[in-house]
Order: sequence, then structure tokens, then C-alpha cells
Amino acid sequence: MAADKKLYIKTYGCQMNVYDSERMADATGYQTVDSPEAADMILLNTCHIREKAAEKVYSELGRLKQFKQANPDLKIGVAGCVAQAEGAEIISRQPAVDLVVGPQAYHRLPEMLAQVNAGERAIDTDFPEEDKFDHLPRGPKARRAPSAFLTVQEGCDKFCAFCVVPYTRGAEVSRPPARLLAEARDLVERGVVEINLLGQNVNAYLADDWTLARLIRELAKIDGLARIRYTTSHPNDMGDDLIAAHGDVEKLMPYLHLPVQSGSDSVLKAMNRRHTAREYLELLERIRAVRPDIALSGDFIVGFPGEQEADFQATLDLCEQVRYAAAFSFKYSARPGTPAADRAHVDEGVKTERLARLQEMLTRHQYEFQQSMVGKTMPVLLEKPGRDPGQMVGKSPYLQAVFMDAGPEMAGRIVQASITRSARNSLAGEIV
Ligand code: SAH
Ligand code: SF4
Ligand code: F3S
Repeated sequence: MAADKKLYIKTYGCQMNVYDSERMADATGYQTVDSPEAADMILLNTCHIREKAAEKVYSELGRLKQFKQANPDLKIGVAGCVAQAEGAEIISRQPAVDLVVGPQAYHRLPEMLAQVNAGERAIDTDFPEEDKFDHLPRGPKARRAPSAFLTVQEGCDKFCAFCVVPYTRGAEVSRPPARLLAEARDLVERGVVEINLLGQNVNAYLADDWTLARLIRELAKIDGLARIRYTTSHPNDMGDDLIAAHGDVEKLMPYLHLPVQSGSDSVLKAMNRRHTAREYLELLERIRAVRPDIALSGDFIVGFPGEQEADFQATLDLCEQVRYAAAFSFKYSARPGTPAADRAHVDEGVKTERLARLQEMLTRHQYEFQQSMVGKTMPVLLEKPGRDPGQMVGKSPYLQAVFMDAGPEMAGRIVQASITRSARNSLAGEIV
């Protein structure tokens, strides 16, 4: 019925949105297309994490409404965290929008589309009791790329003072392990060899007495699944069993994204992170004790309300000690409705200057980590064609892109590669 309709989805924000976009596309029954010109429906899957992210959505909507002049039947929808945070206000600000759907209501998309196609508007930002993934239709059993996301946990109960996620995604909910194992087996049957388990606080996963570590151990038993990753973790949810898994589950890749946000105890306290810098460093020591080669990555916020130069210096000191393999850093952005939004803000110029200093250091460490790979031999999962013909790009155990000479028929294979060169964001290797 809907198969002849075309859907263009543009995804912003985190990996969970990438996963959700796929599931939404399945749920509509529309055929996805790569450009808005050809579409019957345009859906923006949005992010509200920083002011810029949210503003981008409105400028994109302004641009897209012109397509409605060419095609009056075109429908425009907004999903994701801006949809949840702003609801009907989106339509007041941009009347070209026909549909607004929050992240916990995606399973209601088919009815909402029917409403929209009948010429009405549809808005749903409820947090229903039922699990949306139980009710979202699956698409045809198409072959998949070698690496896939699988959302295992959603929502956040942490309420960091700067963050909108607990409001846009709701309370922490873990999906039942049996369903996740079935979905993982299905992915493997479709050619997936690496699964990246997703959650806003993925290591807070708890379903009956299943922890994330237990889920990982069970997933590791699936033949044909070669690699398991997970993201994003909170330091306070790093259980002993998960740390142990890094030591003895071979399929669990040696990479851990463990955001700390700041190296200053007073800022951490003001952020409501509920741990100190020392506790974080001690945690990393325990993880490195079982997996010495683990690559660590983190997130940082500079210029959080109240941050003094000495606090910022503590963040630099922490980074110097940890030497992250990769890191993401941001200027604090006040988000309406969050506790920190009403506090006295750090001067914008100071934020800019601190961010530049932090990024200079993080980039240097990342580059050193990249260079330390040269001369090593490591398993690389070949994923897709590279920039040049006869080239494939793959992934190292440490989540680095590796460019190698190989044909497209090698996609999904894990090869031993000798690393010959490094750049800031990628490596070059040869099959040995
Ligand atoms: N659940 C994860 C991350 C969620 S958001 C965690 O707890 O770490 C991803 C990153 O965006 C955060 O780690 C933080 O560094 C950044 N971020 C969140 N809110 C922000 C804000 N208001 N201003 C600037 N950066 C923010
Ligand atoms: Fe946001 Fe904090 Fe929850 Fe992460 S743990 S999603 S930063 S509130
Ligand atoms: Fe953005 Fe929502 Fe993800 S605010 S980072 S899309 S959870």
C-alpha cells in the first residue's frame, strides 16, 4: 500500500537516532530515498542537546518548506528530541510541519501517517507504557552492512544539571534480553558481524537480573558475531562484572567511551555527576588492569556555570593523565528547563578560549595514539569501499578507520592488517 511512497529521513544527534531512523523507515513502509526532491514525506530526526543542534532543525525546516510549493502533497515531519522538547510549538514556529513525534511514540507512526495523509496534523509526545520496539513493524529481511547498532537501553535517570536527555528520552528502560538476543541473531543472519549496543546509559542496563555484562557474554556465544561494542557509559554504572568482561570476553572490543565532563570536583558536583575526578581515575586504573591496551574516549564540557580557570586546569590535568584515544568537547550550552540554565554563565569569550586549549591537547593525544599504531598488526573488519577504486575502509579494534587495498567482495571479512601510516582520523594498512 505505502510501498510506492518515498521517504527522505535526515538524522541528527547521537547513534540512537541513527538506529531509530532505520526503525521508523521500516514502520512507515515507505521506500527511503537519498534526496528531499523525490520524497512524499520528509522526516527530520532531531537532537536537542545543544542550542546549535536545535536551531539547525529550524533552519533546515525553513529550507525544506520550499519543496511543498513544488509538491503540495509533500508531508514534513519532525521526530526525535526537539520534537519531544518543543511539541506543538514546532508547528507554531514552522507551519509547514505536518507531524511531530517524540522518541517514545514511534510505534504510533503508521496511524499518525494515515492522519497526515488525510490532511490533518498529528502530534504525539507521550511516554506510553508499552515498549515501542515491540510494536514497530520490521522491514523486509534485507542484507545489512557488517556493523549494526542495537538499542538495548533508553532514557536516563541521572539528571546531570546541564542535560536535556532525561526530559526528551524519559526514564531508564531496558529491553528484555530474549528479544535482544533474537534481534542480534537476526542481524547476524543478514550479514552483520559487529554489533554496537546502544543506550543513553548503556551500562545501567538491567532487565530482571540481566546486567549489560551478562547480555554481552550471551551475545558473544552467537556464531558469526565477531565483535561487540557498547556506548555510552556512565562512570557510576561501570560494574565489576562489566570490567571483568573486558578482561575475558574476546569479542568485546578494547574501546570504551566513558565521559567525565570535567576534571574539577567542584564542577563535577555542580553538574550532579556524583563522582570525583579521583574516583574516575581509579576506575580507569581498574579497567586498564584487566585490558591494558583499551582505548578510552570521553566527552567534556568547558565553561560550565561557575567554572574557574583552576577548574579548567584540573580538566587539562586529568586529560594529561588519561591520554584519551579520542574525545569530544563542547562549550556549555544553556538548555531551557535544566537546573544549570538559570545559573550565572561563564563569558562566551572565555569558553571559546578554553575550548581551543582543551582541543589542542585532546587532538595531540589522539594523534599520538594514532601514531602508536604504526608497525602493529591487528584484525581489521572491512566495511565499505574507500575513496579510491580498489580500496576498502575497515575498522580497527580501537574504532579507528583503516584504509586498505581490497575489493568490495571483502566487505564483512576480518583480515590481519599491518598498519603502515597514520593520520589524525584514519590509518592505512596492508593485508598480511
Ligand atoms: N549519556 C551520556 C551522554 C549524553 S549527551 C553521558 O552521560 O555521558 C553527549 C554529550 O553532550 C555529553 O556527554 C556532554 O558532554 C554533551 N552535552 C550534554 N549537554 C550539554 C550542554 N547543555 N552543553 C554542552 N554540552 C552538552
Ligand atoms: Fe545527560 Fe547525564 Fe544522563 Fe548522560 S548521564 S544522558 S549527560 S543526564
Ligand atoms: Fe541529541 Fe536526543 Fe541523542 S538530544 S544526543 S538525539 S538523545
